[in-house]
Amino acid sequence: MKSVAASTILGIGHYVPSKVVTNDDLAKLMTTSDEWIVQRTGIKERRYIEHSGIGASDLAVPATKMALEHAGLTEKDIDAIIFATLSPDHNFPGSGCFLGHKLGIGGVPALDVRNQCSGFLYGLSIADAWVRAGMYENVLLVGAEVHSTGIELNDRGRDVAVLFGDGAGAAIIGAAKDSNQGLKAIELHADGVGAKDLWLEAPASAYDPRLTPEMLVEGKHFPAMNGKQVFRWATEKMPEVSKKVLEEAKLAASDVDLFVPHQANLRINQMVGAKLGIPEAKTVANIEKYGNTTAATIPLGLSEAWREGRCRRGSNVLMAAFGSGFTWGAAVLTL
Ligand SMILES: CC(C)(COP(=O)(O)OP(=O)(O)OC[C@H]1O[C@@H](n2cnc3c(N)ncnc32)[C@H](O)[C@@H]1OP(=O)(O)O)[C@@H](O)C(=O)NCCC(=O)NCCS
Repeated sequence: MKSVAASTILGIGHYVPSKVVTNDDLAKLMTTSDEWIVQRTGIKERRYIEHSGIGASDLAVPATKMALEHAGLTEKDIDAIIFATLSPDHNFPGSGCFLGHKLGIGGVPALDVRNQCSGFLYGLSIADAWVRAGMYENVLLVGAEVHSTGIELNDRGRDVAVLFGDGAGAAIIGAAKDSNQGLKAIELHADGVGAKDLWLEAPASAYDPRLTPEMLVEGKHFPAMNGKQVFRWATEKMPEVSKKVLEEAKLAASDVDLFVPHQANLRINQMVGAKLGIPEAKTVANIEKYGNTTAATIPLGLSEAWREGRCRRGSNVLMAAFGSGFTWGAAVLTL
């Protein structure tokens, strides 16, 4: 194994399904309104898969192909897969196994990461360690979610249902080509004190049987959230951990060329940006179009921003996330 000085993002891609679901569409299924949703979250529409039979790994395939093309690589160059999702195709095996098979690269190791909204950053830390150790040359890191089949589209589930959308992002992590490039700092955290403030209770190995008809009636198989608690923690932890990585990387907020925060709520990100002193012009905000795509938000946002010319090789990119667990983290990387 030949160790490597630093890893970076060699290529990035994304994919969203074609079905657009507006706030007005949701207002036909539950008591809500475009005004309520936009005011509190900034979301105007989100994407849903077109039909049953499409899982997180299916959305990851076109995102991966886009990332490979961007990196100038092919499927055969992928040495390992890391798949971050909270909505795996099936309970087990991991979606990474399904993805590897669909990409025609059977035999390549595949690891699923179950860290919800922070999944991409947790995955990035693993990919970085593998590349730097010389264990794998090109690591495919995916964040992909199909939420639309797992939310309750009625009044009981409306607080959660309006927030989420389907989508995928993929990055190829490999050796940085010049000495200024690479992941400069990354910090990860988790605190189970908030585990039940944003969770999906069943099916559960903690219960025997794991799922009962009563649980289905009560909706225990849908996500449940204490929105205010999540809001409070997110607006405290995201700036805190972002400041730490900038400090570690010896960068000032003004050195950040692009800030890619997890897209959970526009208001959260505006508060985080203000606390960090990073202007909105440098901050990715695509929640209006896609809602919260959980593990996919950061690679999806970075992929769009790169293609729009908002960042380029040599740009300093700050990423930060907060979500279920609670889990949170931040990373700063020179592309
Ligand atoms: C979810 C969130 C937008 C709710 O906003 P809020 O101002 O806290 O709203 P509340 O939960 O206090 O609800 C206010 C009212 O709106 C109602 N409401 C909830 N969802 C609604 C919806 N989709 N449409 C209309 N009304 C809704 C509530 O029932 C409540 O009614 P009540 O006052 O009669 O009880 C906000 O808490 C939030 O964004 N939290 C963070 C969530 C998040 O980021 N989750 C993902 C983390 S990765």
